[in-house]
Amino acid sequence: MTTATRPGGGGRARAAITARTLRTDRWWLAPLVTFVGLGAWVTYATVRVFMHQWFFVEEYLYLTPFYSPCLTDICGPAAEFGTPLPSFPLIPEAAFTLPFLLLFRLTCYYYRKAYYRAFWLSPPACAVPDGHKTYSGETRFPLIFQNAHRWAFYAAVVISVINTWDAVHAQTTGLGLGNLILWANVLMLWAYTVSCHSCRHIIGGRMKHFSRHPVRYRLWTFVSMLNARHMQLAWITLGTLALTDFYIMGLAAEWFTDLRFVN
Ligand code: FES
Repeated sequence: MTTATRPGGGGRARAAITARTLRTDRWWLAPLVTFVGLGAWVTYATVRVFMHQWFFVEEYLYLTPFYSPCLTDICGPAAEFGTPLPSFPLIPEAAFTLPFLLLFRLTCYYYRKAYYRAFWLSPPACAVPDGHKTYSGETRFPLIFQNAHRWAFYAAVVISVINTWDAVHAQTTGLGLGNLILWANVLMLWAYTVSCHSCRHIIGGRMKHFSRHPVRYRLWTFVSMLNARHMQLAWITLGTLALTDFYIMGLAAEWFTDLRFVN
């Protein structure tokens, strides 16, 4: 069979066919949905983070996760860890945690696959040629920094603890729909964080015999079960984060009132 040289040099050559792909199914649908979904979420989150208002409901101590922990001098009673930062249009209220959260999500193994396909077309789908002439994988700058994911995982654990504290803090005012939304979000955030591939390696990696580590084996089994649903959890947490933020924004802006069960 005649073959063509693979763009970028190494590896096996591609069969010399003129068609761009032989796939006849709707292979473009998944990257398109990913492009629209991630694009919409990033747009919403960016607008909200730099809105600098409607992030806290003082009556019920609801703090949106996009502003947690709140650290600038406009935080008022939402500032549980002090206000070391000045309020400034380009400084998010959660300036110390958002970069780590961004790093955690950007370097996540699932999101990498998703945005490499949907945004960089590298490649857009299996058996569809790469949208670029060259390919160096994650071996060079800047993508070699994807290896920072294992460190971002530790930061994400700390941030999940802070989000859990926010839910506990709000619970002291009674029970409303906002509390249930906060708890659902925290639960899903923990599930996503614990299902991380780095977490699975930390729990069960570097061992020769599971039989000598029964506790780690049980934990690894649990993490592996969640890990198999990592993609779903990645999307679910985008949804719960946006829903939690929108609900708190609506309450803070007085578009609607909280449904209370216990006051
Ligand atoms: Fe997705 Fe670690 S692999 S969060």
